[in-house]
Amino acid sequence: MKVDRRAFIASVGGASAVATMTHEDRAEALEHYMTHELDQFGQPGQARSDGPRIPRGTGNLFRPMEESFEPMPDKATLRDFFMKRFAPARHVLQSANHALKNGQPERTVFACLLHDVTQNLMKADHGYWGAQLFEPYVDERVSWGIRFHQSLRFFPDLEAGYEYPEMYNRIFGVDYEPDPYIQEAHDHARNHRYYMEARLITINDQYAFDPNAGEVTIDQFEDIIGRQFKQPREGLGYDGSPVAHMWRSIINPDRPL
Ligand SMILES: [Fe+2]
Ligand SMILES: [Fe+2]
Repeated sequence: MKVDRRAFIASVGGASAVATMTHEDRAEALEHYMTHELDQFGQPGQARSDGPRIPRGTGNLFRPMEESFEPMPDKATLRDFFMKRFAPARHVLQSANHALKNGQPERTVFACLLHDVTQNLMKADHGYWGAQLFEPYVDERVSWGIRFHQSLRFFPDLEAGYEYPEMYNRIFGVDYEPDPYIQEAHDHARNHRYYMEARLITINDQYAFDPNAGEVTIDQFEDIIGRQFKQPREGLGYDGSPVAHMWRSIINPDRPL
């Protein structure tokens, strides 16, 4: 994707706003901008709101919107969430498709499919929120990879074929300097036996912002979801798991309390 530097900087409040942002905030803002642009691709031009400032970490479902939410079925499945809450989700679909086409393990394809969807609920620290959201239902290597992909994004690993993303430097004119907690998470992940679970997510991430790629649909991953996701009988949100409330908040973003 070609990022228009000026449009991006204007979207986050201008150069003075960028100057006050931490490196991690900038990295997040850039990724969210690209994900948003990809989902809007081919849509009639949507004006960016000049209204009151919305905290950037707010999940997509909690931003001002024109329409109301589509009702969710009882006993909602992961596919229902993709169709009615995460759509169009082009970035994660493209990322999973890239992993699939390159013959990566099914577990990696699945992790790529899930890795950023929690941004609909919460963008700030999305790796951690995403891991928590999926932990009860997936192989522990999948949620581990989702948790740590956030901290690995801006650390190169040439042996694994992951170079430092040059776009950060091009947009901001400086190198990325991680927050200490991100640096610590990276160091922990680098020495962990599951390291590649997270690294592969970041590798597929790079190829998943293509506005000209053909449409990928969630149906293409139906069998993989069937094998990799422990769908609760009662439906997500109503299975009494420690994260059921997170799924209910995605079902009902309009609930006042
Ligand atoms: Fe991410
Ligand atoms: Fe991503």
